[in-house]
Amino acid sequence: PHHLLALEGMSAAEIEPFLDLAASYALLSRSRKAPREALRGRTLINLFFEDSTRTRTSFELAGKRLGADVINMSVANSSVNKGETLLDTAATLNAMRCDLLVVRHAASGAPALLARKVDACVVNAGDGMHEHPTQALLDALTMRRHLGTLSGLTVAICGDVGHSRVVRSNIHLLTAMGSTIRVVGPPTLVPSSIASLGNVEVHHNMEDGLAGADVVMMLRLQKERMGAGLVPSAREFFRFYGLDQRRLALARSGALVMHPGPMNRGVEIASDVADSVQSVIQEQVEMGVAVRMAVLERLSRMRVPT
Ligand code: CP
Repeated sequence: PHHLLALEGMSAAEIEPFLDLAASYALLSRSRKAPREALRGRTLINLFFEDSTRTRTSFELAGKRLGADVINMSVANSSVNKGETLLDTAATLNAMRCDLLVVRHAASGAPALLARKVDACVVNAGDGMHEHPTQALLDALTMRRHLGTLSGLTVAICGDVGHSRVVRSNIHLLTAMGSTIRVVGPPTLVPSSIASLGNVEVHHNMEDGLAGADVVMMLRLQKERMGAGLVPSAREFFRFYGLDQRRLALARSGALVMHPGPMNRGVEIASDVADSVQSVIQEQVEMGVAVRMAVLERLSRMRVPT
């Protein structure tokens, strides 16, 4: 397949080549020696129906660093506002012979639907509450750089688990790699069905969930996916489920602190923890560019030209 729509069902052997190529791009980027040829003559279109800072910018940089022509479609100013459907929009971009289509959409399954209709490689940049595969790949690369392996780790993912596409992709990836995932949060934000997705333990007590963990990954309250009146108070949430220094001390000594961003300081994570030496949050962003370079290059290689 020349698309990246989900990590569900992918084996370690299928995931590792993305991480290995991304690791080499991370080294090259630090020495400012990224090759510019792999996507020369190719066109990448970023089609984001939801807000983004990290994902959209890093796909743009990744495409440019590999020599592609990159277009950021501004959905807010597009003919979507005149009633054009998602499929007709994609067909229009396809007719312009775009090679790589990076899609973020509020509806789970939207990128998969497009992938059946266009010739371009489709990359899921986050679809509803379903998956965010490149986020889990960059999280994995960051963990592997610090911990040397993705096997046998205990990764606590805390907060608004239920509305998170990041957690679903992480569960599929980390389970394939042989790690254990603890999802931690209030019962209202942690559906029990999540345990069936992989090697997952469910914890409703933050202290239990953090005990001895190798990695603590915090998630934002995704208010945009909550019904009116169902948003927890920020103060209450931080009191029971916020990551502060006292709680972090329960994890393994030197445990990695991660967050996919955007962060809400003082809600799910204390500011001093986000900026502490244990935090690899900015490194996650850096790895995001390397991972997206690897994904774009590998998918492009797999695609049979039309
Ligand atoms: N982590 C993430 O997807 O961030 P953005 O929404 O800023 O792209």
